[in-house]
Amino acid sequence: MSNEDQSKAANQMWGGRFAEGPDAIMQAINASIGFDKRLYAQDIAGSRAHAAMLAAQGILTDSDAGVIREGLLTVLSEIEAGNFPFRVELEDIHLNIESRLTEIVGEAGKRLHTGRSRNDQVAVDFRLWVRDQCDAAISGLSALMRAFVAQAEQGADWVMPGFTHLQTAQPVTWGHHMMAYVEMFARDRSRFEDARKRMNESPLGAAALAGTSFPIDRHMTAGALGFDRPTANSLDSVSDRDFALEFLSVASITAMHLSRFAEELVIWSSAQFRFVRLSDKWTTGSSIMPQKKNPDAAELLRAKLGRILGATVALFTIMKGLALTYSKDMQEDKEQVFDAADNLMLGLAAMTGMVSDMAANRDSLTLAAASGFSTATDLADWLVRRLNLPFREAHHVTGTLVGMAEKAGIDLPDLSLDQMQSVHPGITDEVFTVLGVENSVNSRVSYGGTAPVRVREQIARWKAQLA
Ligand code: ARG
Repeated sequence: MSNEDQSKAANQMWGGRFAEGPDAIMQAINASIGFDKRLYAQDIAGSRAHAAMLAAQGILTDSDAGVIREGLLTVLSEIEAGNFPFRVELEDIHLNIESRLTEIVGEAGKRLHTGRSRNDQVAVDFRLWVRDQCDAAISGLSALMRAFVAQAEQGADWVMPGFTHLQTAQPVTWGHHMMAYVEMFARDRSRFEDARKRMNESPLGAAALAGTSFPIDRHMTAGALGFDRPTANSLDSVSDRDFALEFLSVASITAMHLSRFAEELVIWSSAQFRFVRLSDKWTTGSSIMPQKKNPDAAELLRAKLGRILGATVALFTIMKGLALTYSKDMQEDKEQVFDAADNLMLGLAAMTGMVSDMAANRDSLTLAAASGFSTATDLADWLVRRLNLPFREAHHVTGTLVGMAEKAGIDLPDLSLDQMQSVHPGITDEVFTVLGVENSVNSRVSYGGTAPVRVREQIARWKAQLA
């Protein structure tokens, strides 16, 4: 049969009761081979485990199972060499591989599908694929955390402004700011680890939906594929896509974190801030404005959450209201997850490169740290400690002094003692020792605080953790 005749004929895998082949448009909407070919390695691993189990249980002869397992390796090498004849009329990766296997090994190939269905087959393939992506995300996040720790270590005691509302709040240390992202990405990493643990159950052997009358050993296939155990309910096994939803949800949180640092980089690398210089490797020039160095990678990272969260919402919407068990709606799961995973891995790698290669500008950070009356809280705290003022009153006195300095166009430490005493007569010379930014950060020694001594403890803890 020519290819054209083949697509007009009833499907060779299930065409028994069909007199006609599908409409061309039906084929276009129905076929998933264009994208689910990415599951080939998982599909072959699942089929090889299934064949070995069928033989161990006496359902297939050892010789048939051996031939099938060998034949599947031939299929694998054809796909990897790029000369596998993918056929759209065979719908998906499962039918493409099984059909080619039968072409290669003959009769035995037709026995592979005993005691299983494409419903449990796709569920196991996709789980294996998403599990690999969890592993990739976990190692990508570890690399990113290492890059942040290295930045923190280099400037553990460099002062910079800490912001709330993007308004100068209190001086903090560069190391402290970098380590904040280590905490965020560590939570993401533990979420991927957690999701991986939960998804690590094998749906293979649930068959179409009800289990099978063949004496299969689901523990054996689960073990062979690195799962902790088989899933316990066959209906749930073929209808569940929680593992993909969890992956997307965690990917979304991670992408949100990436977008937050991306935004800081965009702001910090501007001529107005100059907190960091991004390397040429992660920036682009302008075709018209020669002075420009645009933080394109950071901007794209800021945007990636758009499509990753989009994929998450898409899959939730696909799954919503689906009655048990499998429905073809669920074939729409894969492209969303593939796109989100690809963009997440790219984003993690790009951010790791950008963080490793960026240079913090210590002078600009220090200069900015002292502006904006950043030590006003230190002044108020001093009034409480030394003059025993209630904090609310100290806050008021300090506010008056800030207003005075602002009017004069100077910073807090530039006010004279006389000016200070005109607002509160109890103020002494000693107050000037707390108005410097170094003193300010050095004093914030509470656990988790910004003092270099605390930051270095956290750096040491994470370095040991990430080693
Ligand atoms: N291509 C299908 C999917 O991705 C595989 C499962 C098909 N099962 C079925 N009963 N038609 O969901």
